[in-house]
Amino acid sequence: MLKAKTVIDKERIIGKIDKRIYGSFIEHLGRAVYGGIYEPSHPEADEQGFRKDVLALVKELDVPIIRYPGGNFVSAFKWEDSVGPVALRPKRLDIVWRALEPNEIGINEFAEWVKKAGAETMIVVNLGSRGIDAARSLLEYCNHPSGTYWSDLRISHGVKNPHGFKVWGLGNEMDGPWQVGQKSAEEYGRLANEVGKAMKLFDPSLELVACGSSNRDMPLFPQWEATVLELCYENVDYISLHSYYGNEKNDLPTYLAQSIDMDEFIKGAVSACDFVKAKKRSKKTINISFDEWNVWYHSKNKDDDFVPWTVGQHQIEDIYTFEDALVVGCLIITLLKHSDRVKIACLAQLVNVIAPIMTENDGPAWRQTIFYPFMHASNFGRGVALDMLVESPVYSNKEYGDVPYLESVATYDEGSNQLTIFAVNRSHNEPLVLECDLRDLGSSKIIEHIVLGNNDIKARNSKEHPDNVVPYLASDAKIENGILTVPLSELSWNVIRISTM
Ligand code: AHR
Repeated sequence: MLKAKTVIDKERIIGKIDKRIYGSFIEHLGRAVYGGIYEPSHPEADEQGFRKDVLALVKELDVPIIRYPGGNFVSAFKWEDSVGPVALRPKRLDIVWRALEPNEIGINEFAEWVKKAGAETMIVVNLGSRGIDAARSLLEYCNHPSGTYWSDLRISHGVKNPHGFKVWGLGNEMDGPWQVGQKSAEEYGRLANEVGKAMKLFDPSLELVACGSSNRDMPLFPQWEATVLELCYENVDYISLHSYYGNEKNDLPTYLAQSIDMDEFIKGAVSACDFVKAKKRSKKTINISFDEWNVWYHSKNKDDDFVPWTVGQHQIEDIYTFEDALVVGCLIITLLKHSDRVKIACLAQLVNVIAPIMTENDGPAWRQTIFYPFMHASNFGRGVALDMLVESPVYSNKEYGDVPYLESVATYDEGSNQLTIFAVNRSHNEPLVLECDLRDLGSSKIIEHIVLGNNDIKARNSKEHPDNVVPYLASDAKIENGILTVPLSELSWNVIRISTM
């Protein structure tokens, strides 16, 4: 039996967890909007056409911030098309995803939906095909109270109160050759600086996100971050990172170790941020917005399998397995381990498109396997993240070297006096006993030990079997003399909740 030892010390704080680390993303893509959050003909649709069953699942995830409207989509988006009387809005070719954009849902409707979901919008401006003027007019339309052309236009569209969007993305994946309006780091850094400056002249309290690398394998990483930030440092607040993982080779030990790639990616980006800070002798620290992350590979060879120039096609709909949920669990743990610098993160995406929530048109909505680790972290991972001083046995992997069997982080919430340990056992054939010294916490009591486990690593949830992979409660964790002992079954995601006095 494998055994790992850890020590919890309330003083060993990694960082305060910004709840926006549990953000997500809705893009005008496939059935995320049309046939996902919005389906006016559905029996569960509310008076605005939003599906109440989908909203209920979004609320279970307790997502605090939702990025919108893209993604690649935003780089050819004309925001003015998406506001005003729906009957007058133009239908446009969405050249990015080869779809038809009916503009039935736009900025104002989305803001309404986000409010219903109990979240805030992180809005992204188009810096691909457009620039400073479109960004500043959108900002004035959304956030200025009244008495100017753009704010009065919003009011004439029936939206009296300004949206007050706080977090703004300055373009999307501008380093990517696939992006409409791709730019060099120098071109983008200059543009982000000027757009950021104009936006902050309007409201210095806005939080602006500059585009970092689209993944760790981009040839310019981390020089891209350094060059961009040298040009726009004082006018932005975050640099974004994106990354998707997959098991194309059906190699489970390597797949489970991919969170190490995310860890290295974050460390590299933080180094670039701090290099520029040092070079500029700046007092300001740039943090990370990891605003696209997930598993994405199941649907990749089906990418061309849809009818182009139509609305709501089945595009990039990954049907997730149990092993994907373990990887998502390891990725969330990795984000939490960097909560000193990762302040915003968005699981990409939220509904139908590489998403924890799936729907059928005119049919049910259900939770994918990856729904559960994300929900547990979002529901229970509040307060501060603690460094657990882990001593774990390792396995050897040709890509990642020595990989610990135990991936884990603890969070402590002072308000509720609750400690939560999130842990994945990466071993496919052995349980792992986690021994955790809790003596620093005083007297402590186990609230529950939630487990996501399954004998079939390829098990999935579906419309017919929505509860094939669901969490259960285990009862073999114990605390004796301040030492927690908890067996983690092979290949399992675990949430151990403890109350302390
Ligand atoms: O999330 C799907 C796509 O992945 C986004 O549009 C893009 O930003 C990324 O490449």
